[in-house]
Order: sequence, then C-alpha cells, then structure tokens
Amino acid sequence: MQITLLDLENTAMVEQCARILVQAFKVHHPLAWPTLALAREELAVFASEDRIGLTAVNEESQVLGWIGAIGQYHGHSWELHPLAVDPVKQRQGVGHLLVSSLEQRLYATKASTLYVMTDDENNQTNLADLALYPEPLEQLKQIVNINQHPFEFYLKQGFYVSGVIPDANGPGKPDILMSKSIARPPSPEIVGLQAH
Ligand SMILES: CC(C)(COP(=O)(O)OP(=O)(O)OC[C@H]1O[C@@H](n2cnc3c(N)ncnc32)[C@H](O)[C@@H]1OP(=O)(O)O)[C@@H](O)C(=O)NCCC(=O)NCCS
Repeated sequence: MQITLLDLENTAMVEQCARILVQAFKVHHPLAWPTLALAREELAVFASEDRIGLTAVNEESQVLGWIGAIGQYHGHSWELHPLAVDPVKQRQGVGHLLVSSLEQRLYATKASTLYVMTDDENNQTNLADLALYPEPLEQLKQIVNINQHPFEFYLKQGFYVSGVIPDANGPGKPDILMSKSIARPPSPEIVGLQAH
C-alpha cells in the first residue's frame, strides 16, 4: 500500500474514490453522499488550492481509501474532510496511514491544528438523544461509543474530544469536534507505521 496525491485527471482513481465515499458513509450517514454524482461533485472541489487530497492505493492501483483536508483560519488550521475507507478494507490500518500521511504533509505548511467534525446522526454514541444543555461539556466528558462511531478511531490517532454542537443535525443529533496539534513533527512511530 502506498499514499499518493488525489489526481483529478485520473478518471479511474476518481471513480473509485467516489464509490468508496458513497459506500463508506451508506450505513451511518446515508444522506451524506447518497449518489455517485454527489460524490463526484465532492471530489471535483479538490481542484481548489486550499484543499489537499490523498489516496491509499495497493499494488494493483486499486484505491483502498482516501482523505481530504480544507485549509481554514488563514492556513493555521486544517479541517479533515472527508475520510473514507472501502468497507471491505476497514480495520486494516488504511485510515491510520491516511491520517498520519496527511499530518506529515500539513507539518510542512507550518499549520498548528488539524480538526474534524464527527456527526452522530444515528445513535452511535450515548450523546445522541441526550439533553446536552445546559452543560454540554460535562456531557461530552462522559462520551461512550455505542455503535462504531469514529471518535474512538480519532482518539487513537492522537485527537482530543474538544467540543460539541448540540442538535447540529436536528434534535438529539450532535456534531462532535475533535482536534490535535500538528505544530510538532509527527513521531517516527506514527510516520513509519505501515498498514497491517
Ligand atoms: C473511520 C474509518 C475511516 C477508519 O478507517 P480504518 O481503516 O477502518 O481504521 P484503521 O484500521 O486504521 O484503525 C485504526 C484504529 O482505530 C480503530 N477503529 C477504527 N474504526 C473504529 C471505530 N469506528 N470505532 C472504534 N475504533 C475504531 C481500529 O480498531 C484501530 O485500532 P488499533 O490501533 O487499536 O488496532 C473507516 O471505518 C470509515 O471509512 N468509516 C466510514 C466513514 C467515516 O465514518 N469516516 C469518518 C467520518 S468523520
């Protein structure tokens, strides 16, 4: 497996990335990219200079997953969006390699922070359907993963749970903010780790 830049001229790559986006989000976020057409539109935006797209590909040039980032706060911070691994290739280290490779690239930009918003639209954590006001941060401290919510994946990549927007996606459907410092070089352990 190797990490390459998302190449929008490479139609085969773009099509595979679009398919993965639809399939990876289908179970828990069916409204995110319900069609290939919408997924292609998301990919096309990566032509913009304030975006970085990376793909994980195997020896047969098959895309296993891809990650995007959007420059925010005048380049001091980057928003990780989106991250999708082919459902049949998940839990094999692909997501980890994509995040650590993105961090490696962003370190060169002198950005200080990488953050990601992780929706809970589908009762994946105990925060769903919980009254988060008037103490949203107290509730956030007690977060528990109920059904494969990716916040735990991000914790393992060194992110911290940093905030929450209660009812972001409608009543009882919060959006959870996670962030990490990228002001220091990624540790050799993280950079050198290969997919299993
Ligand atoms: C979340 C996602 C990107 C993770 O990718 P992945 O390739 O399966 O993750 P990895 O194999 O690199 O996992 C790294 C670690 O995180 C853990 N992990 C992965 N997904 C997890 C989840 N949903 N819940 C809890 N832990 C998880 C793995 O078990 C592994 O743990 P380990 O280091 O102790 O072995 C992938 O499941 C995916 O595409 N999901 C659907 C789309 C999505 O939710 N994207 C993120 C939106 S913010």
